[in-house]
Amino acid sequence: MCGIVGYVGPRDAATVVYNGLKRLEYRGYDSAGVAVLAQNGHIAIRRDVGKLGNLGSLLAESPVSGEIGIGHTRWATHGEPSQRNAHPHVGMNGRVVVVHNGIVENFLPLREELEAEGVTFASETDTEVIVQLVERYLESGLGFETAVRQTLAQLEGANAVVVMSVDQPDELICARLGNAGGITLGIGHDEMFIASDIPAILEYTRNMIFLENRQMALVTRQSYQITDLAGVPLQPEVHNINWDPVSAVKGEFKHFMQKEIHDQPQALIDTMRGRVNFEKGTIALPEMNLTPELVHSLNKIIIVACGTSYYAGLVGKFMIEALSRIPVEVEYGSEFRYYDPIIDEKTAVLSITQSGETADTLVASEQARAKGATLWSIVNVIGSQSMRISDGYIAMQAGPEIGVASTKAFTTSLADMYMLGCVLGEIRGVIDPVRMRELVNNLAHIPSLAGQLLENEAVYENLASVFHGAQNFLFLGRGINYPVALEGALKLKEISYIHAEGYPAGEMKHGPIALIDETMPIVALATNDRLYDKMVSNIQQAKTRGGIVLAVATEGNKTIANEADYVIEVPASSELLQPILNTIPMQLLSYHVAVWRGCDVDQPRNLAKSVTVE
Ligand code: M6R
Repeated sequence: MCGIVGYVGPRDAATVVYNGLKRLEYRGYDSAGVAVLAQNGHIAIRRDVGKLGNLGSLLAESPVSGEIGIGHTRWATHGEPSQRNAHPHVGMNGRVVVVHNGIVENFLPLREELEAEGVTFASETDTEVIVQLVERYLESGLGFETAVRQTLAQLEGANAVVVMSVDQPDELICARLGNAGGITLGIGHDEMFIASDIPAILEYTRNMIFLENRQMALVTRQSYQITDLAGVPLQPEVHNINWDPVSAVKGEFKHFMQKEIHDQPQALIDTMRGRVNFEKGTIALPEMNLTPELVHSLNKIIIVACGTSYYAGLVGKFMIEALSRIPVEVEYGSEFRYYDPIIDEKTAVLSITQSGETADTLVASEQARAKGATLWSIVNVIGSQSMRISDGYIAMQAGPEIGVASTKAFTTSLADMYMLGCVLGEIRGVIDPVRMRELVNNLAHIPSLAGQLLENEAVYENLASVFHGAQNFLFLGRGINYPVALEGALKLKEISYIHAEGYPAGEMKHGPIALIDETMPIVALATNDRLYDKMVSNIQQAKTRGGIVLAVATEGNKTIANEADYVIEVPASSELLQPILNTIPMQLLSYHVAVWRGCDVDQPRNLAKSVTVE
């Protein structure tokens, strides 16, 4: 969703802000803008619709120069994507400028109130009420800080803002109200940064503070002061972020998604690093804060997540139940938040989220907390809200995931749930040391097997050349591979815009078999496991109806070629870990089909990387 960047310091503010916005492009946007406090004391704004390059050209044609500035990439909620609705928004008197993420739920009555006082609005956005309110309070004689506080007190909904004023030319004020995406402060030497996400400012500093809900920060180039909304000073923790900024660059790859698919062997190693002891055959998850009392007391785990993370949760259910024998339910955050789920202090709620900022997942977690559940998270973005509200967490350590389509966050979270299942099972006495060693050994092979799968991308380029014109795809799997089929279908849909369905293969005969004809490619996950024979029989049913079958099968399977039209080979692993490997062909197939179709792979239409609104 929308991205925010702010800067105060000796560098050219427009350049820092624009570069930061480029690093937030992956979040999805339809327009972008920059505001700088120019040397003449006025606010200079440049905004445009479409890709950031348009804003870049505008800044090149008509530069703005200054040492303090803010910028924004907008994903429209109120008002069409247009230049006048793009942020930053300036007040009627030109004294204040704002960028904003979220939704001001009571913007209509506020707007009517301001209009009745003679304020003229220049846009259709909810955001503009913020800047007009701050100006109104300045006009009434209040100072900048107090004017912002008074304004924030009037806003309803989840919102994150950065405000700049000609009245206080060396200061930025930012605030976080609810879960409308994060606000991160980056502490530099004689300079300060503000961003909605870490990658925007990672090239300048590693020392960061994450604003919590209902906190505000006053930032100058040499200082920051964090307070609650009432002005009570707070002592925030400063986090040192150890991500490598280079890993957020495409390098030899054509797209971030392709790079991130190829990052997976390393990401899988990183997610195990410091947790798995391959010599001793043990696993430790210290950040989970698991005590024997807690683990023995649990009678249920509920996984809450959205999109790809939800499908990861469906795989995780198989893993955690098999390894720990604790019952696991999996729920969409967007549904769970409106249930009345049965939860108490014997329930652990595990959120899975790459961004750690998905609004539906966060609200679901908070509701579970209110009912007494222990909160856990598996999360990629360090310091994100999901991580901060959890009693225990596992950081995916996947590194920045820039492509909107989630890839390495899926596979690393599967490895994390496997590790979690192992640790829970060990504590509950389900797994003895001999079994643990075997489980660890199986895990140890996964990064190199994933690497093998990435060696032959030509297979997928060829398949894409055959299938890029298809209008529908069916993905079939059974058991632990059924969620992999769902994920395969989601990947194809979101980046290639081909309609695809994931289905449990055994259910095909109850309806979708009617869809099958010679125009329908069917991807069948048929690696060796207990359900292999059943999958072969489902493939035969599809073939009898004229379907074209692409089977994903275990290397060395000599007979599957007699059943399927195309065979994609994957190395063998244990049944619980096989989904990590089976997912990679799904990613590569979707990627190459989307490239063939000329789609915007990293920023598919209508999608945002981190969905911070409901
Ligand atoms: O950041 P999260 O993991 O919470 O995001 C959840 C979904 O929005 C995300 O997985 C989405 O479905 C991706 N576009 C899938 O590729």
